[in-house]
Amino acid sequence: MKDKIVVKDLNAWYGEFQALKGINLAIKENAITAILGPSGCGKSTFIRCLNRLHELRSDAKIEGEILLDGRSVFSMDPVEVRRKIGMVFQRPNPFPTMSIYDNVAIGLKLNGVRDRDTLDRIVEDSLKKAALWDEVKDKLKMPGNSLSGGQQQRLCIARAIATNPEVILFDEPTSALDPISAVKIEDLLVDLKENYTVVIVTHNIQQAGRVSDYVAFFWMGELVEFGRTAEVFENPKEELTEAYLTGRIG
Ligand SMILES: Nc1ncnc2c1ncn2[C@@H]1O[C@H](COP(=O)(O)OP(=O)(O)OP(=O)(O)O)[C@@H](O)[C@H]1O
Ligand SMILES: [Mg+2]
Repeated sequence: MKDKIVVKDLNAWYGEFQALKGINLAIKENAITAILGPSGCGKSTFIRCLNRLHELRSDAKIEGEILLDGRSVFSMDPVEVRRKIGMVFQRPNPFPTMSIYDNVAIGLKLNGVRDRDTLDRIVEDSLKKAALWDEVKDKLKMPGNSLSGGQQQRLCIARAIATNPEVILFDEPTSALDPISAVKIEDLLVDLKENYTVVIVTHNIQQAGRVSDYVAFFWMGELVEFGRTAEVFENPKEELTEAYLTGRIG
């Protein structure tokens, strides 16, 4: 499988504190890569480096290389990087008073798309891909915050899809949701990999086992182990990985 993102010797800091240390990792195209590890090990920092969100912090520093399809993201316009590498956060964050329709269309409108038919088509298509269309098609003018938490998270996924990204980063997308909504999002992630490259941060080892093709285990800012999920889960090479997967640490 083709490498979509290649990370080389990545270091990242908050002020004096080094949150990522020498990360080397290749993220495969049209696959789901799960980032696992205990709280504070650098998972969110890592994915925020990938689409250049980390740099937005005034005390942030970053070193190393991140290649998207072989091209350095640092040589690209950050706005373009974030269009190609979309993100969905832990807490559903739709624009609360904006309509469901506009929550999905906003990115396109900001990119200058005005044509009503085009907007309608992409909004419908994105909501279908996010497995939300049937639940909202008759109330597109209702505000985003009129939906349940699980629906709001799928709305955020539709918003991320609408601008046609190549990679979607998910930072613990189900941890604020009830189990049934979480399963819907998990099913959706598996559907999404047909068309996108997916990276998901999760604390939930079972979830990583269910949905991911590859798994990266982080520990105190370092990448301890990376490999095919089935192989890492059945036969971890590192003692630390095994201890985490069996619940002895974490
Ligand atoms: N804004 C910040 N300023 C200083 N240190 C920070 C900041 N954000 C995160 N850190 C530190 O960087 C390290 C990595 O944080 P990060 O948020 O990437 O961890 P995480 O693996 O996503 O944890 P969690 O599972 O709790 O979300 C932690 O030790 C954290 O305390
Ligand atoms: Mg985090």
